[in-house]
Amino acid sequence: MLTRIDHIGVAVRSLETAIDLYTQTFGLTLVTTETHEDQGVREAMLIVAEAPAGSSYVQLLEPLREDTPVGRFLARSGEGIHHVGYGVDDIVVALREISARGVRLVDERPRHGSMGAAIAFLHPKDVGGVLTELVQAPQAARAQEGAGQ
Ligand code: CO
Repeated sequence: MLTRIDHIGVAVRSLETAIDLYTQTFGLTLVTTETHEDQGVREAMLIVAEAPAGSSYVQLLEPLREDTPVGRFLARSGEGIHHVGYGVDDIVVALREISARGVRLVDERPRHGSMGAAIAFLHPKDVGGVLTELVQAPQAARAQEGAGQ
């Protein structure tokens, strides 16, 4: 079901400072920065590796306001790993199968994530305390949207 680790989501106070840290320390390449109002974050994707199953990234997350999920996370826990994103081939099928195994879904339906991906979060209490995100890469997502029309 899971095809790869798509990204590690890291909560940061300053996107610019964190981008500098990851590019200067590890030589990572910044691919994109995006603002997602619905999630209350400004984010940056830095590519770690390309592989046949799809690329993997570090996702840096800066809250737009204190009263957002990442803002509350920073207040509670400080900077650090916020969630893990796993690649899946078909996010709708994956959500259905995972839900059937008793894991609660934060997102019953996929929504738009970084770089055009379809994403959905699983409830951390049902995944051993890890906020877990499923990611269907954009090409597969587009093909599926096209097929559904
Ligand atoms: Co993510």
